[in-house]
Amino acid sequence: MAQIILITGASSGLGKATAELLMTNGHIVYGASRKPNADKAPYHPVCMDVTDEQSVINGVQKVIAAEGRIDVLINCAGMGIGGALENFSADETQKQFDTNFFGMTRVVRVVLPFMRSRKSGKIINISSIGGLMGLPFQGHYSAAKYAVEGYSEALSMEINPYHIKVVVVNPGDFRTGFTSSRVFTEKDKLGSDYDKNFKSAVATMERDENGGFDPAVLARAIVKIVRKKNPSFRYIVGRLDQRFIAHLKPFLPHWLMSWILSDHYKVS
Ligand SMILES: NC(=O)c1ccc[n+]([C@@H]2O[C@H](COP(=O)([O-])OP(=O)(O)OC[C@H]3O[C@@H](n4cnc5c(N)ncnc54)[C@H](OP(=O)(O)O)[C@@H]3O)[C@@H](O)[C@H]2O)c1
Repeated sequence: MAQIILITGASSGLGKATAELLMTNGHIVYGASRKPNADKAPYHPVCMDVTDEQSVINGVQKVIAAEGRIDVLINCAGMGIGGALENFSADETQKQFDTNFFGMTRVVRVVLPFMRSRKSGKIINISSIGGLMGLPFQGHYSAAKYAVEGYSEALSMEINPYHIKVVVVNPGDFRTGFTSSRVFTEKDKLGSDYDKNFKSAVATMERDENGGFDPAVLARAIVKIVRKKNPSFRYIVGRLDQRFIAHLKPFLPHWLMSWILSDHYKVS
């Protein structure tokens, strides 16, 4: 059955591929972003900046005015700020959380009353494998995604009585605009004591992302989640080694996990 779907971050990468595949599968899709590319988008474009409360309210109202309901919300908008944790200014830290965590909570808060009144709905939050393990020189990105994890766990219990499902998706590395959109802290751009490790970690993350899966892989996984009546709470989507380490991590001592990640990112 066709569902009314609002997806944020729909103008690029994972959100774009997912919005397009959901459309192909017969759903009615509203794709939100700051630059929605209204002429070319195959879905209904919605102009929304998730860091701006009024913009989120206006975007959600647009969908409700047209359709009267939202069956599925997919929170995919996101960006990354790279750098040594010591080098982040308070503003840079705030900016990372404002898009990737607070942005998601703004959209959920505005959409929830409409789902609760119908006692049905599905909220799919795009986290990351970086939300399951702290990644060097992407520390605030990881921290914001960890926040998505805790928030989603609590949310699932609070809205279960209203028959609204919460799903967390943890993608591994995917080839998207994320890599070219990543920004770096002002201090790291100028060079700091962390330079050597910062540069090798950034080179590794860029190589991993550029060699990552096609976004269509994640889109197919989300289409399946949308179709399922009773989806699992979590789906880890990525290369076998990334899924393996994510599942293994809770059983490994911290020193071993740190050694594996430091070795991978050539941080010594
Ligand atoms: N690519 C990966 O390897 C990877 C891995 C794990 C998790 N993820 C997560 O997947 C999600 C999508 O990332 P992607 O890889 O598809 O990156 P992307 O290609 O850069 O797409 C990011 C999307 O987010 C939107 N966006 C950014 N800031 C926004 C804001 N303030 N308000 C509204 N929309 C905003 C962008 O649209 P506008 O610029 O038009 O606003 C764009 O549509 C992110 O949450 C990311 O953390 C990605």
